[in-house]
Amino acid sequence: MAKLALLGGDPVRSDPYLPYNTIGEVEKARALEILDGGVLSGYVARGNHQFGGGPVVSELEDAFRSQFGVRHAVAFNSATSALHGCMMAIGIGPGDEVIVPPYTMSATAMAVMMCGAVPVFVDIEADMFCIDADQIASSITPRTRAVIAVNLFGLPADLIRIRGIAEAHGIILIEDNAQAPLATCSGQLTGTIGSLGVFSLNRHKAIQCGEGGVVVTDDDVYAERLQLCRNHGEVIPPDWGRDEPADIVGYNYRLPDLLATIAVPQVGRLRELIDERVRLAELLSGALAGVEVLSAPKLRPDCTHSYYLYPMLYRREVLGLSRDVFLAALKAEGVHAAQYVTPIYLLPIFQKHQRPSDPGFGRMFPGYDAECSYGRGTCPTVERVEDEEIIVTNICRSPNSDREIFEFVAAAVKIVDNADELRDSKGSA
Ligand SMILES: Cc1ncc(COP(=O)(O)O)c(C=O)c1O
Repeated sequence: MAKLALLGGDPVRSDPYLPYNTIGEVEKARALEILDGGVLSGYVARGNHQFGGGPVVSELEDAFRSQFGVRHAVAFNSATSALHGCMMAIGIGPGDEVIVPPYTMSATAMAVMMCGAVPVFVDIEADMFCIDADQIASSITPRTRAVIAVNLFGLPADLIRIRGIAEAHGIILIEDNAQAPLATCSGQLTGTIGSLGVFSLNRHKAIQCGEGGVVVTDDDVYAERLQLCRNHGEVIPPDWGRDEPADIVGYNYRLPDLLATIAVPQVGRLRELIDERVRLAELLSGALAGVEVLSAPKLRPDCTHSYYLYPMLYRREVLGLSRDVFLAALKAEGVHAAQYVTPIYLLPIFQKHQRPSDPGFGRMFPGYDAECSYGRGTCPTVERVEDEEIIVTNICRSPNSDREIFEFVAAAVKIVDNADELRDSKGSA
């Protein structure tokens, strides 16, 4: 029996993975064309036809509109600024609460705080890791204005139910769809089920231009407010046909043409890129069926996944080894495996003050005096999942192939076969 790499043996994989790279000759040629022209960004902050940016930003927005079948797409320079733009578009401000999951990238909650509003964390589903729809209604208060559902790892949250809850309580559903382009829920594309849907084009995402974000919406007013806050909000452009002053704090959240042009051709390849992720993920799920210690990701009925990451639940009872020891052994075998992220409310900024009403926090949440806590134990499921149960891998994407999938399974099986020795050496902790 081969010796585990963690105990001094040879690893299953010794080569580094080839990087995921969606930048090809077309993207390079398009970027060069913009550089040659010398106009890297086309916005003018005062009202004229360039208020919405240069021609390539419009081309990217058109591509998103037709890909996602929506009335409006507004490009931003990141999904973080896009999320903030959504908060501005729906008028979130001090005293408001916005429900968010704790298991996501920090920007989901920070966008709420950028408006002086309070993020209220609702725990996740133990098996699908998205915000638990069952716990949303009881967290709604008279201050609640919106819920941000994150389609985590590429799996749609329970969006149809969440939309129903939001409608019943008169609050707005926003989808943070940074990780789930082209996932579907009841036949609808994620990002288009809430009133606003946010996409990311940062370098880790399925398609990328370094940094970037896009908001999609069918709401004309939100689309206008998104454009205003993106571009300084100094004026209402004359061609919108309304003679009124702009009434919004404006930022510079502008995506330049130079970056937009790199994203445009990738929108056309998104389907192909996601299909390959799904193919590799299904191969991995099939192969893991014989590996009791790891549960393949559960799919929500009537939904499809887009596998930004492939999440597994580690079952400690099978080998009597902790997740951390198993994870260390997997990593030592040279395959990609990791935990996800610290639940957001356990980040230092929340732990330092514990409650939004804490005087230290008060400068951020002026006048907020309601009960809301960020203490450890606020969302027990996410804490258990992150501390003891989850293992994610990013191998389900090109240029990886079947070989990388079977290697991952071989590494897991090798650990199972050597579990006694591992337990003797590392203990069960
Ligand atoms: C769920 C989620 N929301 C928001 C973001 C922020 O994206 P960006 O880096 O484009 O600001 C990310 C990025 O990792 C994300 O995964």
